[in-house]
Amino acid sequence: MDFATSAIEKAKRRVNSPKLRVQFIVGDLTNLQKVESTFDFLVDYGTLDDLQPKDRDLYLHNVLRLAHSGSLFLLWCFEWSLRWWERFPFSLALEPGEVERRFRQYFRIERIVVRTNPSGWPRGFAVYLMMRGPNKSKVKEEAIAGREAQERVYPSPEVQHIFENAGN
Ligand SMILES: C[S@@+](CC[C@H](N)C(=O)[O-])C[C@H]1O[C@@H](n2cnc3c(N)ncnc32)[C@H](O)[C@@H]1O
Repeated sequence: MDFATSAIEKAKRRVNSPKLRVQFIVGDLTNLQKVESTFDFLVDYGTLDDLQPKDRDLYLHNVLRLAHSGSLFLLWCFEWSLRWWERFPFSLALEPGEVERRFRQYFRIERIVVRTNPSGWPRGFAVYLMMRGPNKSKVKEEAIAGREAQERVYPSPEVQHIFENAGN
């Protein structure tokens, strides 16, 4: 998904194998309209860091709509300690700790790659592998109703294995 038609057209040109079934969507990740389902695996390569702080809140809200308990989310983003002129008028990257602050309530987080390049461009990037935890309010509702929670934190031993071995 990308809100730029040109980016989607470019991506379409790159997928030239008949074996791949890909659905391309022109859409805004801060205002999802066309996707209703949830996914086992989500990937963001360089979009969250393009957004300004208010839109990062909206983005998280939308990511939560796409993730079920046990979904994995691989996030690649620019990340470094911003100098004041890198914040205005546009924030150029995520600050160290920002992903944890925004996502930790909902995801188990592993920072699997960190690179810094103080004198070059980009000045740094990081890769996170996150796993969506159970929807706590739903678990609570089910406990109150005296039923066993249907949701499991980890969908399968295979996914658990991927998560535990990330970064090794
Ligand atoms: C740095 S580029 C990365 C593009 C692509 N992921 C890649 O790997 O080549 C950031 C992309 O995010 C898109 N983008 C920015 N804000 C967006 C939003 N709110 N919803 C969807 N896409 C957005 C831009 O159009 C741009 O194509």
